[in-house]
Amino acid sequence: MRVGLAFNLKRVKPKAGGAHDEEAEYDAPSTIEAIAEAITALGHDVVLLEADATFPAALLGAHVDVVFNVSEGASGRGREAQVPAVLELFGVPYTGSDPAALVTTLDKAVAKGIVRDAGIYTPSAVVMTSGEEPLPAGFTFPAIVKPVAEGSSKGVLPASVAASEDEARALASQLATRYAQGALVEEYLPGRELTVAILGDTVLPPMEIVLRTKDPFPVYSFDHKLEPTDEVAYEVPAKIPSELDREIRDLAARAFAALGCRDVARIDVRLDAAGRPAFIECNPLPGLTPGWSDLCLIAEAAGIDYTTLIRRILEPASKRARRATLPERESASFSL
Ligand SMILES: Nc1ncnc2c1ncn2[C@@H]1O[C@H](COP(=O)(O)OP(=O)(O)OP(=O)(O)O)[C@@H](O)[C@H]1O
Ligand SMILES: [Mg+2]
Repeated sequence: MRVGLAFNLKRVKPKAGGAHDEEAEYDAPSTIEAIAEAITALGHDVVLLEADATFPAALLGAHVDVVFNVSEGASGRGREAQVPAVLELFGVPYTGSDPAALVTTLDKAVAKGIVRDAGIYTPSAVVMTSGEEPLPAGFTFPAIVKPVAEGSSKGVLPASVAASEDEARALASQLATRYAQGALVEEYLPGRELTVAILGDTVLPPMEIVLRTKDPFPVYSFDHKLEPTDEVAYEVPAKIPSELDREIRDLAARAFAALGCRDVARIDVRLDAAGRPAFIECNPLPGLTPGWSDLCLIAEAAGIDYTTLIRRILEPASKRARRATLPERESASFSL
Protein backbone atom coordinates (compact mmCIF):
# COMPACT_ATOMS: atom_id res chain seq x y z
CA MET A 1 0.00 0.00 0.00
CA ARG A 2 0.91 3.64 -0.30
CA VAL A 3 0.61 5.02 3.20
CA GLY A 4 0.50 8.76 3.79
CA LEU A 5 1.97 9.82 7.12
CA ALA A 6 0.20 12.96 8.37
CA PHE A 7 2.18 14.76 11.06
CA ASN A 8 3.11 18.13 12.51
CA LEU A 9 6.80 18.70 12.92
CA LYS A 10 8.17 20.33 16.05
CA ARG A 11 10.30 23.26 14.96
CA VAL A 12 10.07 25.30 18.17
CA LYS A 13 11.66 23.43 21.07
CA PRO A 14 9.83 23.92 24.37
CA LYS A 15 11.76 24.80 27.53
CA ALA A 16 11.32 23.69 31.14
CA GLY A 17 8.71 25.73 32.99
CA GLY A 18 6.48 25.90 29.92
CA ALA A 19 8.30 28.55 27.86
CA HIS A 20 8.05 28.16 24.07
CA ASP A 21 5.42 25.44 24.41
CA GLU A 22 3.42 26.39 21.30
CA GLU A 23 4.60 23.31 19.36
CA ALA A 24 5.01 21.02 22.37
CA GLU A 25 2.41 18.58 21.07
CA TYR A 26 4.07 18.27 17.67
CA ASP A 27 6.46 15.41 16.90
CA ALA A 28 10.25 15.54 16.72
CA PRO A 29 11.77 14.50 13.37
CA SER A 30 13.11 11.30 15.01
CA THR A 31 9.55 10.22 15.93
CA ILE A 32 8.27 10.82 12.39
CA GLU A 33 11.25 8.85 11.07
CA ALA A 34 10.57 5.97 13.47
CA ILE A 35 6.93 5.72 12.38
CA ALA A 36 7.92 5.94 8.71
CA GLU A 37 10.56 3.22 9.17
CA ALA A 38 8.06 0.93 10.88
CA ILE A 39 5.52 1.43 8.07
CA THR A 40 8.28 0.69 5.52
CA ALA A 41 9.29 -2.42 7.48
CA LEU A 42 5.68 -3.59 7.13
CA GLY A 43 6.20 -3.56 3.36
CA HIS A 44 4.46 -0.30 2.48
CA ASP A 45 5.56 2.88 0.72
CA VAL A 46 5.45 5.98 2.88
CA VAL A 47 4.53 9.46 1.67
CA LEU A 48 5.24 12.22 4.20
CA LEU A 49 2.39 14.71 4.47
CA GLU A 50 2.93 17.67 6.76
CA ALA A 51 -0.38 18.71 8.28
CA ASP A 52 -0.30 22.40 7.48
CA ALA A 53 -2.08 24.41 4.80
CA THR A 54 -0.17 22.47 2.11
CA PHE A 55 -1.85 19.24 3.23
CA PRO A 56 -4.94 19.12 0.97
CA ALA A 57 -2.95 19.69 -2.25
CA ALA A 58 -0.18 17.31 -1.16
CA LEU A 59 -2.76 14.66 -0.34
CA LEU A 60 -4.38 14.89 -3.75
CA GLY A 61 -1.01 14.54 -5.46
CA ALA A 62 0.06 11.63 -3.26
CA HIS A 63 -2.51 8.99 -4.33
CA VAL A 64 -2.33 7.17 -1.03
CA ASP A 65 -4.46 4.20 -0.03
CA VAL A 66 -4.60 5.16 3.60
CA VAL A 67 -3.20 7.80 5.96
CA PHE A 68 -1.46 7.07 9.25
CA ASN A 69 -2.52 10.10 11.25
CA VAL A 70 -0.47 11.57 14.07
CA SER A 71 -1.24 15.19 13.22
CA GLU A 72 -2.26 17.64 15.91
CA GLY A 73 -3.53 20.27 13.47
CA ALA A 74 -2.86 23.98 13.17
CA SER A 75 -4.80 25.78 15.87
CA GLY A 76 -8.12 26.14 17.63
CA ARG A 77 -10.37 23.75 19.50
CA GLY A 78 -11.03 21.75 16.33
CA ARG A 79 -7.38 21.39 15.39
CA GLU A 80 -7.01 17.64 15.95
CA ALA A 81 -10.01 17.09 13.67
CA GLN A 82 -8.62 19.12 10.77
CA VAL A 83 -6.69 16.36 8.99
CA PRO A 84 -9.29 13.61 9.50
CA ALA A 85 -12.00 16.01 8.29
CA VAL A 86 -10.04 16.71 5.07
CA LEU A 87 -9.44 12.97 4.66
CA GLU A 88 -13.16 12.28 5.02
CA LEU A 89 -13.92 15.02 2.51
CA PHE A 90 -11.59 13.31 0.01
CA GLY A 91 -12.70 9.78 0.94
CA VAL A 92 -9.30 8.69 2.20
CA PRO A 93 -9.29 6.18 5.06
CA TYR A 94 -7.06 6.95 8.02
CA THR A 95 -5.95 5.55 11.34
CA GLY A 96 -7.57 6.41 14.62
CA SER A 97 -10.57 8.38 15.71
CA ASP A 98 -12.86 10.49 13.59
CA PRO A 99 -13.18 14.30 13.72
CA ALA A 100 -16.10 14.23 16.14
CA ALA A 101 -14.24 12.08 18.68
CA LEU A 102 -11.07 14.17 18.30
CA VAL A 103 -12.95 17.42 19.00
CA THR A 104 -14.83 15.87 21.89
CA THR A 105 -11.76 14.50 23.63
CA LEU A 106 -9.57 17.58 23.07
CA ASP A 107 -11.97 19.63 25.18
CA LYS A 108 -11.58 18.03 28.60
CA ALA A 109 -14.80 19.57 29.93
CA VAL A 110 -16.84 18.18 27.03
CA ALA A 111 -15.20 14.76 27.42
CA LYS A 112 -15.90 14.75 31.16
CA GLY A 113 -19.56 15.55 30.55
CA ILE A 114 -19.88 12.66 28.12
CA VAL A 115 -18.17 10.11 30.34
CA ARG A 116 -20.11 11.32 33.39
CA ASP A 117 -23.36 10.80 31.46
CA ALA A 118 -22.13 7.27 30.72
CA GLY A 119 -21.90 6.66 34.47
CA ILE A 120 -18.12 7.02 34.73
CA TYR A 121 -16.63 8.77 37.75
CA THR A 122 -14.70 11.98 36.99
CA PRO A 123 -13.83 14.75 39.45
CA SER A 124 -16.04 17.81 39.80
CA ALA A 125 -14.86 20.71 37.63
CA VAL A 126 -15.77 24.04 36.08
CA VAL A 127 -14.43 25.95 33.07
CA MET A 128 -13.37 29.51 33.88
CA THR A 129 -12.44 32.28 31.48
CA SER A 130 -12.81 35.38 33.65
CA GLY A 131 -11.99 33.62 36.90
CA GLU A 132 -15.32 34.88 38.30
CA GLU A 133 -17.45 31.86 37.34
CA PRO A 134 -19.31 30.13 40.18
CA LEU A 135 -18.00 26.81 41.47
CA PRO A 136 -20.16 23.68 41.33
CA ALA A 137 -22.03 22.94 44.57
CA GLY A 138 -19.88 21.03 47.05
CA PHE A 139 -16.62 21.70 45.14
CA THR A 140 -13.59 21.06 47.35
CA PHE A 141 -9.95 22.20 47.32
CA PRO A 142 -7.15 21.65 46.42
CA ALA A 143 -7.92 21.98 42.74
CA ILE A 144 -5.80 21.62 39.62
CA VAL A 145 -6.10 24.42 37.08
CA LYS A 146 -5.20 23.46 33.51
CA PRO A 147 -6.00 24.65 29.97
CA VAL A 148 -9.24 23.00 28.91
CA ALA A 149 -8.05 21.97 25.45
CA GLU A 150 -4.32 21.24 25.46
CA GLY A 151 -2.17 18.12 25.77
CA SER A 152 1.42 17.19 26.69
CA SER A 153 0.72 18.74 30.11
CA LYS A 154 0.85 22.21 28.54
CA GLY A 155 0.17 24.67 31.33
CA VAL A 156 0.51 21.94 34.00
CA LEU A 157 3.29 22.62 36.51
CA PRO A 158 3.60 21.93 40.26
CA ALA A 159 2.20 25.44 40.82
CA SER A 160 -0.98 24.50 38.91
CA VAL A 161 -2.52 23.07 42.06
CA ALA A 162 -4.44 25.71 43.98
CA ALA A 163 -5.00 25.24 47.71
CA SER A 164 -7.80 27.78 47.92
CA GLU A 165 -10.60 29.30 45.89
CA ASP A 166 -8.82 32.66 45.56
CA GLU A 167 -5.69 30.98 44.28
CA ALA A 168 -7.69 28.87 41.80
CA ARG A 169 -9.50 31.93 40.44
CA ALA A 170 -6.25 33.86 39.99
CA LEU A 171 -4.57 30.89 38.27
CA ALA A 172 -7.58 30.32 36.01
CA SER A 173 -7.69 33.87 34.72
CA GLN A 174 -3.91 33.88 34.10
CA LEU A 175 -4.12 30.59 32.22
CA ALA A 176 -7.19 31.59 30.21
CA THR A 177 -5.32 34.67 28.98
CA ARG A 178 -2.10 32.84 28.24
CA TYR A 179 -3.70 30.00 26.28
CA ALA A 180 -6.65 32.00 24.87
CA GLN A 181 -9.12 29.37 26.05
CA GLY A 182 -10.97 28.36 29.18
CA ALA A 183 -9.15 26.98 32.20
CA LEU A 184 -10.50 23.80 33.74
CA VAL A 185 -10.62 24.07 37.51
CA GLU A 186 -10.90 20.48 38.67
CA GLU A 187 -10.82 18.85 42.11
CA TYR A 188 -7.32 17.54 42.69
CA LEU A 189 -7.21 13.78 43.22
CA PRO A 190 -4.36 12.82 45.56
CA GLY A 191 -4.17 9.12 44.69
CA ARG A 192 -2.00 7.03 42.37
CA GLU A 193 -1.88 7.91 38.67
CA LEU A 194 -2.38 5.33 35.92
CA THR A 195 -2.74 5.40 32.19
CA VAL A 196 -4.46 2.75 30.09
CA ALA A 197 -3.84 2.07 26.42
CA ILE A 198 -6.51 0.63 24.17
CA LEU A 199 -5.32 -0.95 20.93
CA GLY A 200 -8.12 -2.20 18.69
CA ASP A 201 -10.22 -4.49 20.88
CA THR A 202 -7.51 -4.93 23.49
CA VAL A 203 -7.27 -3.02 26.74
CA LEU A 204 -3.58 -3.28 27.65
CA PRO A 205 -2.44 -3.53 31.27
CA PRO A 206 -2.52 -0.18 33.13
CA MET A 207 0.80 1.62 33.62
CA GLU A 208 1.41 3.54 36.83
CA ILE A 209 3.14 6.91 36.63
CA VAL A 210 4.99 6.96 39.92
CA LEU A 211 5.64 10.55 40.94
CA ARG A 212 8.62 10.95 43.23
CA THR A 213 8.52 14.72 43.58
CA LYS A 214 8.57 16.43 46.95
CA ASP A 215 5.65 18.64 45.93
CA PRO A 216 2.69 18.54 48.32
CA PHE A 217 0.37 17.89 45.35
CA PRO A 218 2.33 15.90 42.78
CA VAL A 219 1.43 16.19 39.11
CA TYR A 220 2.85 14.61 35.95
CA SER A 221 3.97 18.03 34.76
CA PHE A 222 5.05 19.67 31.53
CA ASP A 223 8.73 19.40 32.49
CA HIS A 224 8.41 15.65 33.15
CA LYS A 225 7.31 15.17 29.54
CA LEU A 226 10.34 16.99 28.08
CA GLU A 227 13.10 14.59 29.11
CA PRO A 228 13.78 11.67 31.47
CA THR A 229 13.93 12.65 35.14
CA ASP A 230 14.33 10.90 38.50
CA GLU A 231 11.07 12.52 39.56
CA VAL A 232 9.03 10.04 37.50
CA ALA A 233 9.15 6.26 37.26
CA TYR A 234 6.98 4.06 35.09
CA GLU A 235 5.59 0.80 36.48
CA VAL A 236 4.13 -1.39 33.77
CA PRO A 237 2.14 -3.44 34.33
CA ALA A 238 1.09 -1.42 37.38
CA LYS A 239 1.43 -3.25 40.67
CA ILE A 240 -2.16 -2.97 41.76
CA PRO A 241 -4.68 -5.47 43.15
CA SER A 242 -6.43 -7.46 40.44
CA GLU A 243 -9.83 -6.01 41.32
CA LEU A 244 -8.55 -2.44 40.90
CA ASP A 245 -6.84 -3.49 37.65
CA ARG A 246 -10.19 -4.78 36.37
CA GLU A 247 -12.00 -1.65 37.51
CA ILE A 248 -9.50 0.67 35.79
CA ARG A 249 -9.53 -1.30 32.53
CA ASP A 250 -13.32 -1.32 32.58
CA LEU A 251 -13.41 2.45 33.18
CA ALA A 252 -11.02 2.99 30.26
CA ALA A 253 -12.97 0.74 27.90
CA ARG A 254 -16.25 2.43 28.79
CA ALA A 255 -14.76 5.92 28.37
CA PHE A 256 -13.26 4.91 24.97
CA ALA A 257 -16.68 3.72 23.81
CA ALA A 258 -18.63 6.66 25.25
CA LEU A 259 -16.29 9.12 23.54
CA GLY A 260 -16.61 7.30 20.21
CA CYS A 261 -12.88 6.53 19.91
CA ARG A 262 -11.51 4.13 17.31
CA ASP A 263 -8.35 1.98 16.87
CA VAL A 264 -6.18 3.47 19.61
CA ALA A 265 -6.28 5.79 22.62
CA ARG A 266 -4.75 6.33 26.04
CA ILE A 267 -6.97 7.11 28.98
CA ASP A 268 -5.55 8.88 32.04
CA VAL A 269 -6.86 7.86 35.42
CA ARG A 270 -6.24 9.01 39.00
CA LEU A 271 -7.37 7.49 42.26
CA ASP A 272 -9.22 9.73 44.69
CA ALA A 273 -8.50 9.91 48.43
CA ALA A 274 -10.59 6.77 48.93
CA GLY A 275 -8.68 4.84 46.23
CA ARG A 276 -11.51 5.00 43.71
CA PRO A 277 -10.40 5.38 40.06
CA ALA A 278 -11.57 8.45 38.16
CA PHE A 279 -11.42 9.50 34.52
CA ILE A 280 -9.08 12.46 33.95
CA GLU A 281 -8.86 12.61 30.17
CA CYS A 282 -8.64 10.61 26.96
CA ASN A 283 -5.89 10.89 24.33
CA PRO A 284 -6.95 9.48 20.96
CA LEU A 285 -3.65 10.67 19.42
CA PRO A 286 -1.19 9.24 21.95
CA GLY A 287 2.52 9.98 21.50
CA LEU A 288 4.49 7.39 19.52
CA THR A 289 8.10 8.18 20.41
CA PRO A 290 9.84 4.78 20.69
CA GLY A 291 11.05 3.94 24.20
CA TRP A 292 9.60 7.18 25.61
CA SER A 293 5.89 7.75 24.99
CA ASP A 294 3.55 6.11 27.50
CA LEU A 295 1.84 4.05 24.81
CA CYS A 296 5.19 2.69 23.58
CA LEU A 297 6.23 1.69 27.11
CA ILE A 298 2.89 -0.04 27.70
CA ALA A 299 3.09 -1.89 24.37
CA GLU A 300 6.70 -2.98 24.95
CA ALA A 301 5.80 -4.40 28.36
CA ALA A 302 2.96 -6.32 26.72
CA GLY A 303 5.43 -7.87 24.24
CA ILE A 304 4.33 -5.64 21.37
CA ASP A 305 7.41 -4.27 19.61
CA TYR A 306 7.31 -0.88 17.91
CA THR A 307 6.70 -2.18 14.37
CA THR A 308 3.90 -4.40 15.64
CA LEU A 309 2.37 -1.44 17.49
CA ILE A 310 2.36 0.58 14.27
CA ARG A 311 0.92 -2.43 12.39
CA ARG A 312 -1.87 -2.81 14.90
CA ILE A 313 -2.81 0.86 14.58
CA LEU A 314 -2.59 0.71 10.77
CA GLU A 315 -4.44 -2.57 10.23
CA PRO A 316 -8.01 -1.48 10.96
CA ALA A 317 -7.53 1.59 8.75
CA SER A 318 -6.15 -0.58 5.91
CA LYS A 319 -9.36 -2.54 6.07
CA ARG A 320 -11.21 0.72 5.55
CA ALA A 321 -8.83 1.59 2.71
CA ARG A 322 -9.94 2.89 -0.63
CA ARG A 323 -7.76 4.86 -3.04
CA ALA A 324 -8.40 8.59 -2.94
CA THR A 325 -9.54 10.23 -6.14
CA LEU A 326 -11.34 13.44 -6.88
CA PRO A 327 -14.95 12.72 -7.84
CA GLU A 328 -15.36 12.96 -11.59
CA ARG A 329 -18.18 15.39 -12.08
CA GLU A 330 -18.65 18.81 -13.47
CA SER A 331 -18.71 21.68 -11.08
CA ALA A 332 -22.15 22.64 -9.90
CA SER A 333 -23.57 25.61 -11.74
CA PHE A 334 -26.66 27.46 -10.74
CA SER A 335 -27.57 31.07 -10.27
CA LEU A 336 -28.14 32.55 -6.89
N1 LIG B 1 -7.91 16.17 38.74
C1 LIG B 1 -6.62 15.91 38.85
N2 LIG B 1 -6.12 15.52 40.03
C2 LIG B 1 -4.79 15.28 40.17
N3 LIG B 1 -3.89 15.41 39.20
C3 LIG B 1 -4.36 15.80 38.00
C4 LIG B 1 -5.73 16.06 37.75
N4 LIG B 1 -5.85 16.43 36.46
C5 LIG B 1 -4.62 16.41 35.93
N5 LIG B 1 -3.71 16.04 36.84
C6 LIG B 1 -2.27 15.90 36.65
O1 LIG B 1 -1.86 16.71 35.56
C7 LIG B 1 -1.34 15.85 34.52
C8 LIG B 1 -1.72 16.42 33.18
O2 LIG B 1 -3.13 16.52 33.11
P1 LIG B 1 -3.91 15.97 31.85
O3 LIG B 1 -3.64 14.53 31.66
O4 LIG B 1 -5.34 16.37 32.02
O5 LIG B 1 -3.26 16.88 30.74
P2 LIG B 1 -2.72 16.64 29.27
O6 LIG B 1 -1.84 17.80 28.99
O7 LIG B 1 -3.89 16.48 28.35
O8 LIG B 1 -1.92 15.31 29.31
P3 LIG B 1 -1.34 14.41 28.08
O9 LIG B 1 0.12 14.70 28.04
O10 LIG B 1 -1.63 13.05 28.59
O11 LIG B 1 -2.07 14.79 26.84
C9 LIG B 1 -1.93 14.49 34.80
O12 LIG B 1 -1.14 13.48 34.25
C10 LIG B 1 -1.93 14.47 36.33
O13 LIG B 1 -0.65 14.20 36.88
MG1 LIG C 1 -2.86 13.35 30.26
